[in-house]
Amino acid sequence: MFWRRTIYSCTILALLASSSHTLAAEPTLKEIMQALRDDLVQVLDGLLLDDPARIAIAAQRIADHPEVSVNDRQRVTAELQEEMAQFAGFDHQVHSLAVSIEAAARAEDLALVRAETRQLIDGCLACHSMYKNRIADVLSEARPEN
Ligand code: HEC
Repeated sequence: MFWRRTIYSCTILALLASSSHTLAAEPTLKEIMQALRDDLVQVLDGLLLDDPARIAIAAQRIADHPEVSVNDRQRVTAELQEEMAQFAGFDHQVHSLAVSIEAAARAEDLALVRAETRQLIDGCLACHSMYKNRIADVLSEARPEN
């Protein structure tokens, strides 16, 4: 959940400001999405190959995806304003499902993984249908930092 964690991660980032955890290491939204895609493919592979361990690892990575860079976060917030709540809601939905899928995979309940993975994909695509192109346009404008 890259938006809901913002408040306390800001505190943590402030505490870590002098350590190796720098803001520059934070990925762009697009890079996070590309990693989510790779992890989703791994979940599907795990279902196709009856490999719950593979599913659990990939679902955990979806649930714990890194924070979006400060630069991208500011741009998205400025563009969406009061729509941020809905955007964050989609992110939360995907996060919760990924947590459930990981638990189902660890319990080797592949029928549940299958049902929840359908919902996960619906969650990805629900956000995309409303926001993907619009945000991609905003973020592809000249970037001051990268
Ligand atoms: C909260 C909204 C939201 C959710 C949920 C979401 N995405 Fe995205 N996704 C976006 C936005 C916005 C972009 C456009 C980013 C850009 O181009 O800078 C995007 C772009 C992408 C891209 C294209 C990246 C590229 O190289 O152009 C992929 C792939 C992707 N998302 C995969 C996923 C997967 C898989 C999930 C679910 C596990 C997911 N997304 C969930 C908002 C979301």
